[in-house]
Amino acid sequence: MRQATLLTLQTDRQAHIACQDNLAFMRPLASGCMQLVVTSPPYNIGKSYERRRRLRHYVEQQAQVISECVRLLSPRGSLCWQVGNHVEAGEIFPLDMVLYPIFQEHGLHLRNRIVWHFEHGLHCTNRLSGRYETILWFTKTDDHVFNLDPIRVPSKYPGKKYFKGPKAGQLSCNPLGKNPGDVWVFPNVKNNHVEKTSHPCQFPVELVERLVLSLTEPGDSVFDPYMGVGSSIVAALRHDRVGYGCDVVQEYVDIAWDRVHQLRAGTLRTRPMHRPVYDPSLPYGGHR
Ligand SMILES: C[S@@+](CC[C@H](N)C(=O)[O-])C[C@H]1O[C@@H](n2cnc3c(N)ncnc32)[C@H](O)[C@@H]1O
Repeated sequence: MRQATLLTLQTDRQAHIACQDNLAFMRPLASGCMQLVVTSPPYNIGKSYERRRRLRHYVEQQAQVISECVRLLSPRGSLCWQVGNHVEAGEIFPLDMVLYPIFQEHGLHLRNRIVWHFEHGLHCTNRLSGRYETILWFTKTDDHVFNLDPIRVPSKYPGKKYFKGPKAGQLSCNPLGKNPGDVWVFPNVKNNHVEKTSHPCQFPVELVERLVLSLTEPGDSVFDPYMGVGSSIVAALRHDRVGYGCDVVQEYVDIAWDRVHQLRAGTLRTRPMHRPVYDPSLPYGGHR
């Protein structure tokens, strides 16, 4: 009886989540079925959920996963691979540089290399402390979905007008806000972040929301092959998309389901997309 109740809870009409290896999860899915593949793979740095291996082996394994993701990607779709550095004997290997040739071999088009800047992390003693990671945004074709309006951010001078010429007196900026640019500043999910779970390196939901809103339409499918605690699924469902994801750690999958149910119940707390990074007038600077 108790088991039946739990099984009933682990369903949602727009969430397809499994505790499974990503290659096994992807193989039965139809080619071209995903509008957005967005993920952050392990960086091969010995986190609790990964086995450290030689960089060459790591890249070979990434190549297999990327190949399946490209197969699933729809012709108008986008693939976003979020990575930082692999570190070996004090030397850094930026994984976007290491993995880029794989995407290129598949004929994908790089649209932006987005820099995600955050202010907290390890304090290095022999090199500068790392305070950014990147998102490689690729498309399959030139006819890709890109909706700028839902992700515009407030203009610096919203009321500014042309002061001469044929447009004198008219607004010189878009009243909906400006393009957010390719350097994104979002707090990373550390202990004082409202979204923190037991996972050591979660996506901030607001980061994925920006990708979901600009690169998909309502009803589209979004897939995260290294789902962790389901941040991409939450971002997709919140905006009426369909979320697909898998992870090999049962604890993370359980947390992902829990977050989905909290989202549906209206109790899931996430950091709002337009909140300033640090607001000294709010408790904890607005992080909680
Ligand atoms: C960097 S974390 C992703 C965290 C995720 N973005 C989130 O917000 O929770 C990478 C995840 O990949 C999972 N993983 C590692 N190998 C995997 C595989 N072969 N198939 C599916 N998931 C895997 C790990 O358990 C880990 O949770």
